[in-house]
Amino acid sequence: MKVFITGATGVLGRRLVAQLTTHGHEVVGLVRDDAGADLVEQNGAIARYGDVLDPETLRQAIDDDTEVIVHAATVIPRSPKPSKDEWAQNGRVRKTGMQNLLETAPSELKQVLFPSVVWVARQPDGSWFDETADRYPDRATQSAAEVERLLQSRAAVDDFEAVILRCGFFYAADARDTRLWGEKLLEGELPIVGGGLLGQQDAKLSFVHVDDAASAFVAAIEANANGLYHVVDDEPVSGAAFFERLAELLDAPEPRRIPGWLARLFIGKVNVNGFTSPMPTTNEKIKTELDWQPAYPSFEEGLKQVVESWQTNGTVTGSREESITETKISI
Ligand SMILES: NC(=O)c1ccc[n+]([C@@H]2O[C@H](COP(=O)([O-])OP(=O)(O)OC[C@H]3O[C@@H](n4cnc5c(N)ncnc54)[C@H](OP(=O)(O)O)[C@@H]3O)[C@@H](O)[C@H]2O)c1
Repeated sequence: MKVFITGATGVLGRRLVAQLTTHGHEVVGLVRDDAGADLVEQNGAIARYGDVLDPETLRQAIDDDTEVIVHAATVIPRSPKPSKDEWAQNGRVRKTGMQNLLETAPSELKQVLFPSVVWVARQPDGSWFDETADRYPDRATQSAAEVERLLQSRAAVDDFEAVILRCGFFYAADARDTRLWGEKLLEGELPIVGGGLLGQQDAKLSFVHVDDAASAFVAAIEANANGLYHVVDDEPVSGAAFFERLAELLDAPEPRRIPGWLARLFIGKVNVNGFTSPMPTTNEKIKTELDWQPAYPSFEEGLKQVVESWQTNGTVTGSREESITETKISI
């Protein structure tokens, strides 16, 4: 397949490039600077310069014989307490970016894939949900819901398959957030938010190792799939259990708890809700229909790999005195 990827330098995108080229696909990755071009080329693909908000650059970058487009560009807000404007900019990259991509419509286009988020369908009562559940978007997920609807309606009239892979919370050794969690745990500065007495009300969350998120895209492309799938590991887990295990593996102090109302002052309502509202879901559909299996079925295996990777490449030593101080990319 000839595949065009936006966000080809991101945590998900660089894995998509590497895994697809390893599987023999011809991959073109959109980049915004020379460092991005080097990364894409090191992973075996062709780099093209452009911006998803600039349609002319997309027309230049996308070859007419492109069969598959994956829109993985995003600007997830980086500030601890994101503003409306930051979410709006992320929304533009997601939605206007997708509209611009669809406008290019290469003549051979067969399939368009979008990495959405499972928490767009998080149920208000905290119950289990699957691909058939209604969406309940908030400020952070509104644009993901809009892109899902846009893609589904365009695929109904245009001649391509639309694939929405709703992923769980990403974690990986080279993911910025995961590194930050490790660093803060080592400093004793990553509290567990909410949970009530003895953690009895801890919300079950759905995570996925980013290697597995990427392999789900490969499976969907190779099956010429169509539709909506949840890409999560086998075992929803509370944020508390996840961070306590990461702390243990790092030999970091056990994280303390702070109530949600206090955390809101520092990281805002949207982020607090992200970790305190349950989002348990299942990967049954993608396992059954696309024969996909996560290499890291639970956070136990996944976090072990993350910490081993940090220890091997020197970004963290497992000693409380040292912390993650440099950015190293390992796929
Ligand atoms: N993080 C999660 O927990 C999670 C979970 C589920 C789904 N997802 C979804 O997965 C996708 C990928 O996320 P990620 O974590 O891999 O993101 P990421 O690491 O932050 O990467 C973002 C990518 O988007 C590119 N980009 C940003 N603005 C652009 C623009 N205007 N034009 C072209 N490229 C642009 C960046 O390029 P530069 O390198 O040039 O900055 C980078 O390659 C997103 O759709 C996200 O919503 C994420």
